[in-house]
Amino acid sequence: MLAKTPRLGADDSVSADASPVAEGIYLDNAATAPLDPAFAEAMSRVACERFGNPSSRHDLGLGAERELRLAREQVANRLGLAEGTVVFTSGATEALAIAILGCGRARRQPGHVLISAVEHAAVRETALMLTRDGHEVEETPVDSDGRVVLGELRSRLRPTTFLVAVMHVNNEVGVIQPVGRIARAVKRERPRCRVLVDMVQSFGVLETDVVALGVDMVAVSAHKIHGPKGVGALGLAPGVTVAPLWSGGGQERGNRPGTENVPGVVAFGMAAAIGKGDPERFRRYGAKLLAAIRDISPQAQPLVEERYRAPHILTVTLPGLRSEVVVNALSERGLWVSSGSACHSRRSLRSRVLIAMGVDERQGAIRLSFGRMVSDADVDQAAETLRSTLVELS
Ligand SMILES: Cc1ncc(COP(=O)(O)O)c(C=O)c1O
Repeated sequence: MLAKTPRLGADDSVSADASPVAEGIYLDNAATAPLDPAFAEAMSRVACERFGNPSSRHDLGLGAERELRLAREQVANRLGLAEGTVVFTSGATEALAIAILGCGRARRQPGHVLISAVEHAAVRETALMLTRDGHEVEETPVDSDGRVVLGELRSRLRPTTFLVAVMHVNNEVGVIQPVGRIARAVKRERPRCRVLVDMVQSFGVLETDVVALGVDMVAVSAHKIHGPKGVGALGLAPGVTVAPLWSGGGQERGNRPGTENVPGVVAFGMAAAIGKGDPERFRRYGAKLLAAIRDISPQAQPLVEERYRAPHILTVTLPGLRSEVVVNALSERGLWVSSGSACHSRRSLRSRVLIAMGVDERQGAIRLSFGRMVSDADVDQAAETLRSTLVELS
């Protein structure tokens, strides 16, 4: 259960009549996970007490630099990377842009980029920017579970393919891609081709060892694992370099110049060390909520087969119901879930992911996603709310 917290006014001061955040159960942790209060405290401490510029050579600067180094180690550990190959950014979108646009810029000749058909807009739209420089961007298809079809991907590799981007866990449906196998297949045929993996949804839940998986570049984000928004990182496997998008003071070894967001990065490090939560607990929660939904809507189906599904994301079809109607009805009853990707639900666009999977996207679907702050009691109450709401809507 989320506590009632006073909301800060637009001027950042706590105003007496500011409307409080409503109480409810938050099962939309794939969109963003609530900030851990301990991280907020650490951010405040670092911002106030360790405010030095990490590039300054006096005590305060060195203190801030130490904070940065510890956070880098924490993120690197979670990625199985040695310190120094983690580049802090303003989020995963920026990390992906450095990787994608950097790879494009590093080429003298136009080439070919392959992305999966279920990538987040941060990969797809950024890759499409490369077409302005004459590069070709192609999508490789997925099966009905949303998994990349390896043979199809292999058959699309060309001598000019310089980048393959496949996400680890899909944010809309939770499908896990076999990124290790994909990387091996790509490297076997095109050893110089870079493999980029968007690990935003898997980081802190699944194994994300960059070296063991054999991928070159990964992007991760703090706010999906109870850290702050606007902080992320690009992880680079040993020997992999990128061309920075801009230049400046040389921070982040020149890969992402600009004075570092030390408080945010410190909280990101703490979040990376702790992770998003226990996968086994998430599986239990998913099973309980699916059973509750099926009590009322027996035809409801998970969109992804259990063995391919990440434990913390469960998207369930609701035949005969519209997603927005269900999401709104649940929200009115204090249960916050999503109809898929947050941006799709806002703009009511057709979901590219569902289309790629061959799912009739006119049928309703809701996404339930878990994090460390969801309790057993929350899930019991959510199951009750799902039952009563579906009874009313049916
Ligand atoms: C799979 C995926 N990739 C990338 C992003 C973008 O991350 P950020 O919000 O840190 O820019 C998100 C966030 O919604 C995501 O879910």
